[in-house]
Amino acid sequence: MRTQVAIIGAGPAGLLLSHLLHLRGVESVVLERRSRAYVEQRVRAGVLEQGTVDTLVAAGVGGRMSREGLPHHGIELRYGGRGHRIAFEKLVPGRSITVYGQQEVVKDLIAARLDPGGDVRFEVDDVALHDIAADRPYVTFGGERLDCDVIAGCDGFHGVSRPSIPDGVLTEFRRDYPFAWLGVLARVKPSAEELIYARGERGFALHSMRSPEISRFYLQVPPDEDVAEWPDDRIWAELKARLETVPGFRLATGEIIEKAVTPMRSFVAEPMQYGRLFLAGDSAHIVPPTGAKGLNLAVADVRVLTAALAAFFADGSPELLDRYSAACLTRVWRAQHFSWWMTTLLHTFDSDDAYGGRLQTSYLDYVTSSEAAATTLAENYVGLPYEEGM
Ligand code: APR
Ligand code: PHB
Repeated sequence: MRTQVAIIGAGPAGLLLSHLLHLRGVESVVLERRSRAYVEQRVRAGVLEQGTVDTLVAAGVGGRMSREGLPHHGIELRYGGRGHRIAFEKLVPGRSITVYGQQEVVKDLIAARLDPGGDVRFEVDDVALHDIAADRPYVTFGGERLDCDVIAGCDGFHGVSRPSIPDGVLTEFRRDYPFAWLGVLARVKPSAEELIYARGERGFALHSMRSPEISRFYLQVPPDEDVAEWPDDRIWAELKARLETVPGFRLATGEIIEKAVTPMRSFVAEPMQYGRLFLAGDSAHIVPPTGAKGLNLAVADVRVLTAALAAFFADGSPELLDRYSAACLTRVWRAQHFSWWMTTLLHTFDSDDAYGGRLQTSYLDYVTSSEAAATTLAENYVGLPYEEGM
């Protein structure tokens, strides 16, 4: 078998790359370890930056998102017994976010690829990358071989692509956090119109949603927490304790349909390329979900990689491919800092660090009282504009 681009992974990065390349006349084959049903039901993030929404609409895959997605024009920071709205329409006029589950984006992208006969293969075992430093790399899987010109490693943090790069090439930057998130999906009408980020002595909590009938919550828990420690009644009691901290707010409860613990980590591998292998999305970088940047960073990487590959296959020019990693990393590090900043601002750390706690409260007071400070949060949250031509 032969194709132009072998794409490892059918998450948002791999699927969007395949679709955007198809629109530019570049062939690809997507190789995914899991089943289609698994990737389409995997509950992940749910906030799309303005740029991500614009990218999906421009690529012709934004129809259902435009119908079912929930545009949001602000978020609430809740602490010290008060709620403070960060009003996007005032601070960053014309830019907003859309709440739409990542699994819905994945469903839309799979449908868009399979419709015109795109080659997306699920339940593929034993993917291995070969000759990635040569100009004729290839991929083996399940006893088969796929020859290609380029390999795109879109296989996430635990994928096979990044480890295929020889030792000594990559510099890895990481930061771990002394807590994790317990994510909860519940069949209950959201108790507020917008997202609520709540900081308190008991720990962080987030009120989000997926639709007018489905709420999404997160609780800060110890880093090695076992989800079995969290029966439904304990989850509701703790969510109420952490969210019902302002007058008049009552949390509606209902059937919990999914719960899982997600570790919190920051990670970047530089450079995001080696030979004919290019890393995009979680395979190259991970952010704590507090800033809702993971999916949106994957989209930004894919935009850059698509332009570079289209130029390369159009006339062999390698310049954009040579600069791929450098072109992505400015935005990657901006999102890394914002995600780390939101995480350190809102989570409860070691109770012995009284000084650190005062710094957090002071910064929250500043962000919720200064238009300049609130604007820095708003413009990063809705997503900074893409660089020219990306
Ligand atoms: N062979 C084939 N496929 C693989 C392999 C492998 N060895 N290892 C991983 N995969 C697949 C996974 O099953 C997954 O479907 O690669 C895909 C990677 O998708 P994601 O992890 O969703 O990563 P990405 O597409 O970069 O999207 C980033 O996903 O994890 C969230 O928070 C993250 O929202 C962000 C987004
Ligand atoms: C979500 O709805 O899954 C979500 C929203 C905002 C975040 C993280 C996750 O910061």
